Amino acid sequence: MIDYLSLKRITDLHAAEITAAVNRVVGSGWYLQGQETQQFEAEYAQYIGTKHCITCGNGLDALSLILRAYMELGCLKEGDEVIVPANTYIATILSITENRLVPVLVEPDINTLELDERLIKQAITPKTRAIMLVHLYGRCAYTPLITELCQHHKLLLLEDNAQAHGCYYKEKRTGSLGNAAAHSFYPGKNLGALGDAGAVTTDDEALAKTIRSLANYGSSRKYEFTFKGRNSRMDEIQAAVLRVKLPYLDEENRRRKEIARLYQSAIHHPKITITADNDCDNVYHIFPILCPDRDEMQLYLREKGVGTMIHYPIPPHQQQAYHEWNNRHYPLTERIHREELSLPCNPTMTDDDCKYIIEQINHYPSNF
Ligand SMILES: Cc1ncc(COP(=O)(O)O)c(C=O)c1O
Repeated sequence: MIDYLSLKRITDLHAAEITAAVNRVVGSGWYLQGQETQQFEAEYAQYIGTKHCITCGNGLDALSLILRAYMELGCLKEGDEVIVPANTYIATILSITENRLVPVLVEPDINTLELDERLIKQAITPKTRAIMLVHLYGRCAYTPLITELCQHHKLLLLEDNAQAHGCYYKEKRTGSLGNAAAHSFYPGKNLGALGDAGAVTTDDEALAKTIRSLANYGSSRKYEFTFKGRNSRMDEIQAAVLRVKLPYLDEENRRRKEIARLYQSAIHHPKITITADNDCDNVYHIFPILCPDRDEMQLYLREKGVGTMIHYPIPPHQQQAYHEWNNRHYPLTERIHREELSLPCNPTMTDDDCKYIIEQINHYPSNF
């Protein structure tokens, strides 16, 4: 059986070092706001190429804290509009509504599955204050036109980099392309912790300070509270684990790219669309294919011993949580959610695994 993703096998890639790091923290007697977190923040900021990295509890908190901090700084206010892809993981949109901002959902380019830059301009209104880009599936969604639009309309450019650690746009990493970026280190991510963890990267010192305080009950000095904050902190064990894994991230992303190339060059089936790659250095957190009989294809692959996933079966605007949007239509987003199937793509896979998967897909009966 080729699992879609075995976290055990991912951890086993660096098991001895991870165990030593965890033991180091256990033995230190210091579990929060210590050396490991501080060092990880410095190392990750350097990796992404920003002045600041502020760790927090998870990716949703990272997104939410960015927006909340901009509200505290007077750059955003209740009711302001944030442009966001309609086909994203719901956390991106939750962070916007949680802050009483208004998500303006924009359809993706069906060729790349990333936000369609041509549709952004017509979504901008006098209330628009930010664009929240999502580098979905580990592929860079940035285009220079987006910066032009942000500059022209005085909009913040925010990045949801939960799925794209290590991805480049030209010589800059995603996570350093706009005003601020959110990162998730959920265990299954390219850089994954052994539990929940997240971070914000930014060059903006005032924003960094505000986020650090908001994530620590609104306090920058013990028992003095500037904001009505929350508790969202990465613990020392997660920071120590991430410090072990960060130096291997580029190498592991290279393996993901090799696997993606194998799929791209060898999958040939009349029913399957392999979405187009842009010319960025993408990191393939997820390798999506589109297939009109996706559910049958998933069953077929399961019978052949190949695990797959769906990212994601129901789009945000059709969720019960957003019942007020249920009668809206985003046809491309709906098609993606109907047809998307994610193939295994991770650094524990061998070439033989990939060849087997490709063979099975190419032999999928067209008349299934
Ligand atoms: C695009 C995207 N944004 C945000 C998140 C939220 O991150 P977390 O699960 O760490 O809260 C995730 C992942 O789960 C994600 O894939």
